[in-house]
Amino acid sequence: MSEYLSRSEGETEELGARLAKNLPGGTVVAMYGDLGAGKTAFVRGMARGMGLSCRVSSPTFTIVNEYLGERELIHFDMYRLSGADELFDIGWEDYLNRGAVCAVEWSEKVEDAFFGDEVRVTIEKLSDSGRKITIEGAELC
Ligand SMILES: Nc1ncnc2c1ncn2[C@@H]1O[C@H](COP(=O)(O)OP(=O)(O)O)[C@@H](O)[C@H]1O
Ligand SMILES: [Mg+2]
Repeated sequence: MSEYLSRSEGETEELGARLAKNLPGGTVVAMYGDLGAGKTAFVRGMARGMGLSCRVSSPTFTIVNEYLGERELIHFDMYRLSGADELFDIGWEDYLNRGAVCAVEWSEKVEDAFFGDEVRVTIEKLSDSGRKITIEGAELC
């Protein structure tokens, strides 16, 4: 487990980029943190670290965004789901099996869909621009 202090949205993005750069396909990145913590900012950095130039915004209404290039990043926002069953209904296992990195905002809603091998990213708001970011299960580049 490692802890980092981020002082800006850009620094949070940079941590996401360093996490995702060498992350193997099929990895689930389970994200925790309140509204406005910086989960989407972190995923935006992940996309950049994976060499994807797509526009990254929270899939709050669509549930899933797919960022495709030489590598694949699937971005989930579970805020509107009632539980893991609904995630399986939208094809969770297919996403896992296709070897994409899966970043999941509001993971607390779908804990039962995980197998215990996920990378966990927890973002805590310390102040307007200060965030404590805890990463478990992977090293940064
Ligand atoms: N250190 C920081 N890291 C990430 N976001 C920050 C930071 N400081 C301020 N912010 C602001 O907090 C908000 C985070 O939004 P977002 O990434 O959409 O959060 P979430 O997806 O967790 O709801 C943005 O408005 C961003 O500018
Ligand atoms: Mg978000």
